[in-house]
Amino acid sequence: MTDNHRVLVSASILNADFSRLDRVVHKMERSGADRLHLDVMDGHFVDNITFGPDVVAAFRRLTELPLDVHLMISQPARYMERFLEAEPETVTFHVEAEAAAERTTSAIEAIHAAGAEAGLAVSPDTPVDAVDPWLSELDLIMIMSVYPGWGGQGFIPETAPKIAQARAKLAAAGRGGLVHVDGGVSSKTAQIVGSHGIDVCVVGSALFKRGRDAADEVERVKELALLGFESNTAGAR
Ligand code: DX5
Ligand code: ZN
Repeated sequence: MTDNHRVLVSASILNADFSRLDRVVHKMERSGADRLHLDVMDGHFVDNITFGPDVVAAFRRLTELPLDVHLMISQPARYMERFLEAEPETVTFHVEAEAAAERTTSAIEAIHAAGAEAGLAVSPDTPVDAVDPWLSELDLIMIMSVYPGWGGQGFIPETAPKIAQARAKLAAAGRGGLVHVDGGVSSKTAQIVGSHGIDVCVVGSALFKRGRDAADEVERVKELALLGFESNTAGAR
């Protein structure tokens, strides 16, 4: 059953040249990336600080690529409306970010009310089961394969089996949700995440390495992830 499986690339611009975001966006469009992944960090939930809703809105004006907003912020429910005003296709926040479960529920409801898709991200030390209370509402689960905060970190292989777990949960929920993997994904690690059935590879620094062709890297990530998927399915037959 490999025929229907697709692997998409969502390009994370975290390690791009922020002085020329228009150029970055157009380069990503030409590279064949399917989506843009925007990393929002608040210096509180994670140590790093990046940008807020106004910059997400600027990306919206620059491209028609679907925007995946990845909120690495405390109290995501509090800021949700402002991010939704920028009209992203998906908004993902961390299952660890709200102390009260009702706040997570209301943030997901706000995302859906705005016509966007909702995701929960799980950090490397968090079990995928943490998303269970919201499973029937989720359009995506994002498996963090690095500790959130910085681009260019090494892929943590122990997180890879969580991709298959998230995939099984979403399949059981029957909503057609997709699994994203974020952190250290490149042509070097694509086969591993593919073998666990990944749907969307978030690829950051690998697309912005000097001397490396972004289009070539996007193509290789997709090919190798599919190869991983197919060899795993073959093994299971
Ligand atoms: C990490 C971010 C990732 C990261 C991906 O906190 O959420 O999106 O920028 O970049 P690479 O591919 O360099 O790990
Ligand atoms: Zn991210």
